[in-house]
Amino acid sequence: MAHRVTLLPGDGIGPEVTAATLRVLEATGIDFEWDRHEIIGISAVEDQRPELPDDVPESIREHKVALKGPITTPVGEGFTSVNVQLRQRLDLYANVRPCVSLPGLDTPYEDINLIIFRENTEGLYAGIETYDERLEIADSIARITRRGSERIVDFCFRYAEKNGRNAVTLAHKANILKKSSGLFLQVGREVAERYPDIAFNDRIIDNMCMQLVMYPQEYDCIVSTNLFGDILSDLAAGLVGGLGVTAGANFGDDYAVFEAVHGSAPDIAGQGIANPTALIRSAVMMLRHLDEVEAANTVNQALREVYAEGDALTADVGGSSSTMEFAEHLAARVEKLLATSTA
Ligand code: NAI
Ligand code: MG
Repeated sequence: MAHRVTLLPGDGIGPEVTAATLRVLEATGIDFEWDRHEIIGISAVEDQRPELPDDVPESIREHKVALKGPITTPVGEGFTSVNVQLRQRLDLYANVRPCVSLPGLDTPYEDINLIIFRENTEGLYAGIETYDERLEIADSIARITRRGSERIVDFCFRYAEKNGRNAVTLAHKANILKKSSGLFLQVGREVAERYPDIAFNDRIIDNMCMQLVMYPQEYDCIVSTNLFGDILSDLAAGLVGGLGVTAGANFGDDYAVFEAVHGSAPDIAGQGIANPTALIRSAVMMLRHLDEVEAANTVNQALREVYAEGDALTADVGGSSSTMEFAEHLAARVEKLLATSTA
């Protein structure tokens, strides 16, 4: 039976990396029935249409799974990020961002394998912002709740337990933000007691950044609040080859939306040179979520081989192939691996 999945190609480089990802998924032979919706936030608003039409969250509620490209957010003005709106409306509270080295890439470290768990619905992204025109004072409130903290930290520990990971580090700023970050840390410590087999420690966020740059191999799972998790995941992406190779997924109790860490990359959009690896790796996470374990392993294996050989990569990771040339090369490798495994 075909997997019915909502497909949101997004804007900027989104449609390009989505087409490449679909090519690779097609090579796995797994049957998908895509419910495709175009969301082009900024142009929708110019045309006085909603930036996030209701049929998008409805489609995800129906199919329970979505594969999503990036969507541009206006900076400093305009509508609330469509990405943030989707995560909040569907209560996708856990943003999981694995940063795993690929062979052959010239990066500061080899064999990095860490996962950032970012709380995805509250903190400074709760949307509680005010501006006093007269006094010219702006406030953004970092709302942290016991329930929100408990479910993300618990999600992180459950994930660690299920996937044979050994340690969880909680990143916070509880020395200064005694109330909000303090609550997150306190709840985190309580949750950790329920998982005695998994090591637990915490780091103040600024030190966490330094630690990750200098000693990334010492970390395994890192859980944090929304903004810190966002920043840490781009930092960790930089350790394994950049945003072009770093996958992500948003999970709630009922739905899952798979999307890369990167944004719409307006600086390279429309040129056919974006690296689709990040979205392809997000699609691998989706395959696992759909219990298509063999296909997931095959795409991963093909990725490792193609990166180790290094002759079909995109420009961001030192090659000269286009988005689709890379995808065709990878798809051919997936087909070859599948043919030899069934031969
Ligand atoms: P960005 O991630 O789009 O780009 C940062 C840098 O990384 C750029 O130099 C870009 O060319 C490069 N890059 C990103 N993805 C790449 C890929 N697949 N292949 C090769 N190079 C890649 O971040 P930026 O520029 O801060 O944001 C651009 C827009 O994207 C903003 O409107 C932002 O709000 C939005 N955004 C959307 C996200 C989402 O839809 N989930 C996530 C992050 C940002
Ligand atoms: Mg980000």
